[in-house]
Amino acid sequence: MSKMTIRDIDVKGKKCLTRVDFNVPMVDGVITDENRINGALPTIKYLMDHGAKVILCSHLGKPHNIFTPGFGLTKKEKKAVEALPEGEREAAKAEYIAKALKNDPKKLSLKPVADRLAEIFPGKVTFATDLVGEDAHEKVAALKDGECVLLENTRFDAGEEKNSEELCRKLADFCDIYVNDAFGTAHRAHATTAGIVQYGFAPVAVSGFLIEKELKFLGGAVENPVRPFVAILGGAKVSDKIGVIESLIGKCDALIIGGGMAYTFRAALGYKVGNSLLEEDKIELAKELMKKAEEKGVKLMLPVDNVIADAFSNDANIKVVEGDIPDGWMGLDIGPKTIEIFSEAVKTAKTVVWNGPMGVFEMENFAKGTKAVAKALAETDAITIIGGGDSAAAVAQLGYADKMTHISTGGGASLEFLEGKVLPGIACLNDKK
Ligand code: 3PG
Repeated sequence: MSKMTIRDIDVKGKKCLTRVDFNVPMVDGVITDENRINGALPTIKYLMDHGAKVILCSHLGKPHNIFTPGFGLTKKEKKAVEALPEGEREAAKAEYIAKALKNDPKKLSLKPVADRLAEIFPGKVTFATDLVGEDAHEKVAALKDGECVLLENTRFDAGEEKNSEELCRKLADFCDIYVNDAFGTAHRAHATTAGIVQYGFAPVAVSGFLIEKELKFLGGAVENPVRPFVAILGGAKVSDKIGVIESLIGKCDALIIGGGMAYTFRAALGYKVGNSLLEEDKIELAKELMKKAEEKGVKLMLPVDNVIADAFSNDANIKVVEGDIPDGWMGLDIGPKTIEIFSEAVKTAKTVVWNGPMGVFEMENFAKGTKAVAKALAETDAITIIGGGDSAAAVAQLGYADKMTHISTGGGASLEFLEGKVLPGIACLNDKK
């Protein structure tokens, strides 16, 4: 990797402002999946063991998107806030956030994560109830070498997502060294993910071990794969994955397409897809992508049969069909023949990258395809890379997590990385000399 890491510098006694991705799922303040916390632990431990004053920061959720489900604004309130002149809108949102937090301090607060960290590193972790306010300053000033403070949700400050220079200037007080280990947020150019370096407030900017690991596996798989290299893409929409499909067509030996987006490809081949998910305006694109794959000698594999249902429900009538899908029926999973073909393709691969489920795996009747692909990956000796998001959740849910070579902690970030895009949170870091 060409970026400097925490291994390359002396952190002893230094204030290390460390951006992590603690955007973890929570229900009523209880963390339901600790993967992202676990992913950041090696970096936090290293910094503490080497005598740094560790100042952790992260976002949680989208508090500035007042349409965030569950964050509680009524439709009328949202309309009223949106109707305000721009200058007043931000203040109204801030007031709303403060009110929501007062009513329910657990809502989008990182306190539960600080509590968890305090269990992992007893006596060494504190929590600041703001980002750059009085409490943060007090807690940072009290830090001894080898101790750690987690600051409150970066997105409670409107300057975070706006990449405000003013916020970055305030954060500079906490930053002898900037460490980015938030791979999951590296595709965002926000104040704590890139701005602090871009505006020149970070004398040194290095990556943590998680970003280093993500780049090693995702980057290695794509740039220098052990062949045959098979990519499996699923998920609902072609439009979400165009960039990845285009980029992978230039790199892999076989590209497997499943999930909702496969129906647009099937339609492009002239099949009827009934009431299945279909992006009519992407049919031409699907044809072009298939042509491109053919020209490059990449085997593009689509489902040959599907599990179809007469309603989008686990209780719907279901059957398996090959060829056309009748009107009134929708494809919700890949069928048994497809499972066999896709699993066989995985068996012959030496590198497999997987992003996106094969069907509506949240419903038991349409989960077989996703389960079978996960199983095939778990059983192969190939390098297996799971590109975050739903496929990572599926692998974990099925108990195969420890059978994979690497499960990315990034959803959107890993997709953008696989697309070959520059991730601002990585691009801003100091290059290795
Ligand atoms: C994620 O969950 O993908 C990252 O934490 C980024 O979150 P965001 O989509 O709210 O920026």
